Amino acid sequence: MPKRVQKPPRHWRKEIDFVLISQEQIARRVRSLARQIEKDFAGRDLVVVALLNGTVVFLADLLRQLSLPLRLDFIGVSSYGGGTESAELVFTKELRLDVSGRDVLVVDDILDTGKTLAQVRAKLQKLRPRRMRICVLLDKPSRRVESINAHYVGFEIPNQFVVGYGLDYAERYRNLPFVGVLHPAMYKNPDFIPLLSLKKRSLLLGARTATAPGSAAPRPSASP
Ligand code: IMP
Ligand code: MG
Repeated sequence: MPKRVQKPPRHWRKEIDFVLISQEQIARRVRSLARQIEKDFAGRDLVVVALLNGTVVFLADLLRQLSLPLRLDFIGVSSYGGGTESAELVFTKELRLDVSGRDVLVVDDILDTGKTLAQVRAKLQKLRPRRMRICVLLDKPSRRVESINAHYVGFEIPNQFVVGYGLDYAERYRNLPFVGVLHPAMYKNPDFIPLLSLKKRSLLLGARTATAPGSAAPRPSASP
């Protein structure tokens, strides 16, 4: 990982404070995750189950690096209602493919408290897959409240709120080709606040603000 703080492309400089993980770093890491996954699932009847919506960019890149026969399905999850971080998850799209007796690779954008993936794992377990593994682009282990880990992790990051490469702030910034940290002023933008889910609001309150980018260096996670 380069120590130097990377500036975002000019177009994004007003909103994004710094690039935490560059497009090139992501591409390299996605290729290496794909090699590990290919090795572990060779010869298996693989179903990739991706969580909507944050996973779409990572998923599209990862899938195209996988030279394996596989099928793809999606689960929609949202943390509506409730008023706190422990708000019940609502499933907005159910799985359609049959995963019973098959190998399942669950793909998500980020493992934070672990509440989402713990519930998804419990739901899928009931369908009796032969084996289930979890792959996430980012992992914030310091925020974990559920006992859950991913088998494949792109980058471990500190407790900082990040956007880009699929991850959003008030449904924006998913299209950034890198993972970045917003200018703290953006968190106070009155146009965005009403659009934030309760989960995102509480996340932002707890996250470190973007004053010390050097301390935020992500590191590629160790192999599973
Ligand atoms: P968990 O249930 O706490 O593990 O939450 C996982 C979900 O929270 C992710 O799929 C994201 O939608 C969201 N999330 C957690 N951290 C961030 C972040 O830094 N930026 C954007 N979304 C985040
Ligand atoms: Mg998500």
